[in-house]
Amino acid sequence: MTVTNPDEAKRRAAARAVDLVEPGMRLGLGTGTTAAVFVELLGARVAEGLDIVGVPTSERTRTLAELHGVPLTTLDAMPELDLAVDGADEFDRCLRLVKGGGGALMREKIVAMASKRMVVIADCSKLVDRLGRFPLPVEVNVFGLDVTCRMTADAAKASGCEGEIRVRRFANGQAFVTDNGHYLLDCFFGAIPDPEALAARLSAIPGVVDHGLFIGIASAVISAGDSGIEIFGRLD
Ligand code: A5P
Repeated sequence: MTVTNPDEAKRRAAARAVDLVEPGMRLGLGTGTTAAVFVELLGARVAEGLDIVGVPTSERTRTLAELHGVPLTTLDAMPELDLAVDGADEFDRCLRLVKGGGGALMREKIVAMASKRMVVIADCSKLVDRLGRFPLPVEVNVFGLDVTCRMTADAAKASGCEGEIRVRRFANGQAFVTDNGHYLLDCFFGAIPDPEALAARLSAIPGVVDHGLFIGIASAVISAGDSGIEIFGRLD
């Protein structure tokens, strides 16, 4: 499938995900432009009387949900959620994802794993045969940054990945700081031949707080393009 109007496709995928929401549900609210459409459409349903509560995966999503009148709680107050709906930077047919382009990967993963189901919404350009085209984000502790960078490069090499690893920065050179007070490394691998091996190696690095590989977490992807919607995995 192709997509000529990604904004329209994101809206279609988000609308399909809103159809999955039932009264009383506890929802994880993702981050990014696609998740933002979901929050907006959800807000419209709440205004019509739908009774749900959401846990935002970023301060940005919190602000947006408040703007659209979506009732919010915290994961501490509600540690078990019914459904997390979030975007992705890439997905493959095995429902493996790369996330974190918006910098919220750690909260996104915590929320997704606290949910009975995670449904990904995306325009179909995010489907890849092999993960790695999008630079893999890795959230790292500020302490020992150089050491963590080196260990990340070693872990990548041992997993068959090579490429530049950069600290994410704004145009003025200032480092991007996540909602959790950490830095992000963007890993320009081009291809990740063994995502499971890389994920395990990255998780073993003490300075790595989390990484953007989501493996075995999503139960479905709603992918939208010019010719409609394609579902990968199961929505029920
Ligand atoms: C946020 O940290 C990311 O994981 C997003 O879910 C991802 O970048 C997708 O964003 P878009 O919907 O804006 O493409």
